Formats: sequence, structure tokens, C-alpha cells
Amino acid sequence: MDRRTPALPLYEALADSVTALVDDGVLRAGMRALSVRSFAAQHGVSLTTALQTYRLLEDRGVLEARPKSGFYIMARPHQQRPLPTASQPPLRATQVSVSNPVFSVLSYASDFSYAPLGCAIPSAGLLAAERLDRHLARCARVHGRRYNLYADPHGDAELRVQISERALRLGHAVAPEGVLITNGCTEALNIALSVTTRHGDTVAIESPTYFGLLQVLEARGLRALELPTDPVNGIDVAALDRVLGARRVSACLLASSFNNPLGYRTGDKRKAEITKVLTRHGVPLIEDDIYGDISFGEERPRPFAAISPKADIILCSSFSKTIAPGYRIGWLAANHRHDQILAAKFALSLSGAALPQKAMADFLGSGGYDAHLRRIRKVFAGNVDRIRRVVDRSFPTATRMTNPQGGFVLWLELPKGFDSDALYARAIRERICFVPGGLFTASGGYRNCLRLSCSHDWDARIERSVARLGELAHELLA
Ligand SMILES: Cc1ncc(COP(=O)(O)O)c(C=O)c1O
Repeated sequence: MDRRTPALPLYEALADSVTALVDDGVLRAGMRALSVRSFAAQHGVSLTTALQTYRLLEDRGVLEARPKSGFYIMARPHQQRPLPTASQPPLRATQVSVSNPVFSVLSYASDFSYAPLGCAIPSAGLLAAERLDRHLARCARVHGRRYNLYADPHGDAELRVQISERALRLGHAVAPEGVLITNGCTEALNIALSVTTRHGDTVAIESPTYFGLLQVLEARGLRALELPTDPVNGIDVAALDRVLGARRVSACLLASSFNNPLGYRTGDKRKAEITKVLTRHGVPLIEDDIYGDISFGEERPRPFAAISPKADIILCSSFSKTIAPGYRIGWLAANHRHDQILAAKFALSLSGAALPQKAMADFLGSGGYDAHLRRIRKVFAGNVDRIRRVVDRSFPTATRMTNPQGGFVLWLELPKGFDSDALYARAIRERICFVPGGLFTASGGYRNCLRLSCSHDWDARIERSVARLGELAHELLA
């Protein structure tokens, strides 16, 4: 047992070493694991540490507790399925029209009678709702009246300090004055696009990309130029360079980390290359860092803005995926165009709701966010692992799937000709929701793909539903 990694708590180091034994095939699926007591004795640790280790291994889908029988090793999926193929969208600007099918998927998001594999919304139990409620109640009690007025359009001063301090920890030097609080990441993206583009312009984006972004482009009358993307490294930098040399593109909009739906993490070197290409062509970058805090690895990836501080970058993010989708608190940080950005914020919503911002600032100030992040990262990583395992045993053999490094969505690619809209129609009849692949592009591809959200607490219904989707996929391919 190697316990030299100083940054890791002991139970995580122990869980890593058990995971490695499973990955290396020393411990095989179906084998009975040591009892918690024997594990504690073998490793010379307390029963509490042994229990924490086993809980983490359960979360990761490495161990399974069987009633009255003990713990068993589970199959690990990730070496077994190939990754989806790199995307090859047509390299031309496309009119966007996705809103109608997107509304259909969104309509199931809050209907709990559907298995929640569709929208990427963490389940309420995973959000620190009660703690946040307490901060909100306290703020209402102490400051309520003071906050029932038009707030500073920049947003709560203390919240901006908190966001600026967190950015600094990643090497992104942005003063509180450079942070603008927005109504979710969606408003931040709208503001960023409104100051960099005009109706009819073209924006370069990843392919596949988050369908809500396509809706924003559609609503703003912008055209999408989709970039070829591979499921490990992200966009093809040479293709970006060629495209920008050949046509006028007003902005490039990319995920900072853990693209939705592919889950890849673009490395720092590649990020630097991308900003260099964009700078050479005079194209601003809008980066969406909404999943950055949900990294399964030890390090939280750095956004483009931290890696290339002088480049023309507008960073957009929010707390929607980690703590409070309902509070609608996002932000934007830019090193250019401050006046235009403020004017755009005025035009869109005048200012944000003050009290939730105050409560969020209070919560961040209490130090609770980091502990919360540590907890949910593990849960999401465990969910992704478990869903991958069920896909592995129930989907047709030719199915490819991503191996996300963070976030909580999984992308499946079935053989060409597979119709994920037909699967969707059948799944909805059986009260299972997921998102068909066609929604992640403006140019008509990915009909053979689908996205599964792994954002909900694991339970038997989710397991059954993924397995049922696999059965239906077999039937559709037969
Ligand atoms: C990549 C990405 N960006 C932005 C958003 C929207 O964020 P918000 O709810 O903060 O507006 C989402 C939501 O699913 C997303 O996946």
C-alpha cells in the first residue's frame, strides 16, 4: 500500500489502491471482498476509515454491498467500450433551429414520474439546499429590507469578492470590479454574445455542443460554425485555424472544461494553442466554465483566461451545476469591453435579485462550498461509473461511450443508421427521459447518438431505466 500521496485523505488513498487492483485484474468482478473489519485489520486502520473507504468504493461502483452476504467486486467498464469517433461536422455556418425539440425535453425535467436521465440538473439531495436555505433565512432576517430594492447591476459586492478570490486560486487574476453577477450562465453567455456579435454573424462552437447554447444562438439570430471535436482532447486546433482563415467569425464559444455532452478536458497546452490561434485571427473567446468545479481528478482544471491572461476572453459560469440552479446566480469576467458589458446587463435585466446573491456570498464565506464540492464530485464520478457499467452490460456491442473526466453527462454513439429519436419516443412512453443526439448540433448529425445525465442519486429505477434503454436499442437495431 502506497500512502505517500500527502494531498489525499487515507480512505481515498486506500480506495484508489483497491480500484487499481480491480483495474489491473487482480481483483475480479464477482469476487467477494474482505469484510470491513478484516480490511481494517489488514491495513492497520480504524473501522471508521475502513467504512469510509468502502463507502467511497461503493460510490465509485467498484464494490457492491449484498444484503446479509457482504461486499463484492463489480465489473469495471472503462476499458471495454471504445470512445465515440471524432466529430466531422460540415465546416460551414448554419442557421440554428433547435428550440422546439428542446422544449419537449425540458418539459420532462421537473416531472419526477420520468426516470431523470435527460436534463443535466443535479438532484435536490445533492445540492446543499438546507445549508443554503439557512443562509438565505438569516440574510432575509438580518438584511431583508435593505435588499428589497434595485441592486447594484454589477451584483453583490461580497459575492464578487468571493468569486474573484476563487478565480485567483486557479491563477485567474480578476479583480472583484471585473466580475459581473448574472442571472445564471445563460445570461452571461447572452451578454458575452451581445458585446461580440451582431444579428446574422457567425459563432464557432464545439460539435456536439450543449443544446441551450444553440437556443441562445437561435434567439440572437446567430449562425453556428461547428468545429470537429474529439472525445479526449476537444476541438481540432488546425481545423479552427483553417476555418478562421477562410471566413469571418465574430466569436468562438468553447467549454473551459468537461464539454457538455462529451466530458473531455482540454489540456493547458492545447488551451494556450487555441487562444494563440484566436488572437492571431482577432476572434474573441467566450468560455463556459460551468462544469469546471466538477472535476473527477485531483486538480480543478484552469480556465483559458488563467492560461492566457492577456487574450480577449470573456469567462462565463454559474453555481447552477454545483449548488443552486434555482438561485439563478452566474457571473461573467472579462478583460475588455466593461462598459458595453454593463450596458448589456442593464438592457437584459437591469440587475439581479439581491437576496439570493447575499445568501450565496454568506455561504461561500462560511467555507462550506469546498467541502460540498468534494462530496458531490465523488457522487457524480460514482454515478457516471455505475451508469457506464449498466450501459456496458445492456447496450448493443457496437455502442461507443465517453469516459468523462468531470461533469455528469455521458455520450453514447450507436452504429450509423440508429435512430435516437425513435428510441426517445419509445422511452418517453415508458417514462424514461434522455436527450437524443440530434439536439446537440445545428447541422443535422448525431441521430445515432444520445446523452444520459448521471446527475441524480443512484437508485434501482435509474439502473432499470438505463438497462431498459439498452434493450430498446437492441430492438431498434434488430
Ligand atoms: C454547458 C452549459 N452551459 C450553461 C448552462 C446553463 O447554465 P445556467 O443554468 O447557469 O443558466 C448549462 C445548463 O445545462 C450547460 O450545460
